[in-house]
Amino acid sequence: MKGELSTEPYKGVRDFYPEDWAALSSAFETLRRVLKSYGYEEYNASPLEPASLYESKTSEEIVNEQTYTFTDRGDRKVTLRPEMTPTLARMVAAKRRELAFPVRWFSIPNVFRYERPQRGRLREHYQLNVDLLGMKDAKADGEIIVIASKLLRAFGAQDKDFSIRISSRSLLDAACNAAGFRSSEEKDSYRRLLDRKAKMPKEEFEAALEGRPDPLSLIESADDAEIAKEKDALLSLIEAFNARSMTNVVFDPEIVRGFDYYTGLVFEVFDTNPENSRSLFGGGRYDNLVGMFGGDAIPAIGFGMGDVTLMDFLTTHGIAPVAKSAATIYIGTPSEEDIAPAQTLADTLRDGGVSVIVHVGGKSLGDQIREADKRGNTYFIAYGKDEQSSGEVRLKELESGEETTLPISGVAAHLAK
Ligand code: HAM
Repeated sequence: MKGELSTEPYKGVRDFYPEDWAALSSAFETLRRVLKSYGYEEYNASPLEPASLYESKTSEEIVNEQTYTFTDRGDRKVTLRPEMTPTLARMVAAKRRELAFPVRWFSIPNVFRYERPQRGRLREHYQLNVDLLGMKDAKADGEIIVIASKLLRAFGAQDKDFSIRISSRSLLDAACNAAGFRSSEEKDSYRRLLDRKAKMPKEEFEAALEGRPDPLSLIESADDAEIAKEKDALLSLIEAFNARSMTNVVFDPEIVRGFDYYTGLVFEVFDTNPENSRSLFGGGRYDNLVGMFGGDAIPAIGFGMGDVTLMDFLTTHGIAPVAKSAATIYIGTPSEEDIAPAQTLADTLRDGGVSVIVHVGGKSLGDQIREADKRGNTYFIAYGKDEQSSGEVRLKELESGEETTLPISGVAAHLAK
């Protein structure tokens, strides 16, 4: 072999060393806690899906330019999931007779997109998916948006830190009809252009509009009963949020979303700090996707929230979780004979819910303390003959150097304080 193997991960993906994974897992636990409190149940699936699941159902850009697709040894075309919604729709459709509707489910899968890696965009990310299926009512739209807001508030974010921008596919559709867009291709190409707006220079976007109005003028200029009805529905939804003291929900006609499956309300959540210009979450109503697997349509609404943009948001606002991956206590063993009694003590502490490691390597006590410090353990206990006969230990807090003498039976209770 020529040269050494690189230690770099594949382009656009991350390694998670224990401390990074502990911080991300802690954020996931916060999300899980909030979602379970609303009765949402966690599901999961394999990242491998037949490529046909995405073809013609989701988004041209994602399927043609961003999927990781390969042919397996049995000549099947396989895609690494670029999003979870088609998998969810497949799973719900498969068990439509057994499931109790409305279905409230969430998942935190890793998803893969061949994108140009940049701030907020990677080739693999974890994406919280929250979906409510089987309810067409605006109450479902309200529940999903309230949950989106609660998730960020659970980390300590306030309304002023983020805005929830909503619009509607059916509103845009009605406006396109009123403006005389004739075919669905014409509407789709207009919508796809709007979705790419943020990725293009202003002049290029304006040239590509080819004289067509921007969505706001399209909606404002038309005098049409269907548009008025759609607009009223959105505005009353916003008023209902205001009445629940959610002041950061706004109408934004530029929110169109890239996926073809959305049918009604669409929304994205943005950081109000311009440093994080990427959307934190995106979602909407997709009433026809589950029906593509046969049977009656099942209305649905949900959103996806990426871990990269979430962590950027939390860090920018100084509310990112800090989590330790190292064991709480390192028990030092002055000699070989102390290892067995130290293991017994460790087991007692573990039974009390404390994470503990025991030194079994024969280093000097000084080196053991240095090792515990480097590992990031919180406390050090030396467990030699004296401690074994007295039944008392000195719990040393490594960061401050402070020591507390305690009976062995009092250690777990002391840490719980
Ligand atoms: P999406 O807008 O493509 O929607 O993705 C949702 C969120 O995932 C984005 O707002 C962003 O936070 C994150 N995200 C997307 N792509 C990347 C990337 N390359 N790197 C890092 N983060 C990324 C969906 O995927 C829909 N399936 C969501 C949904 C669920 N709609 C209904 N239910």
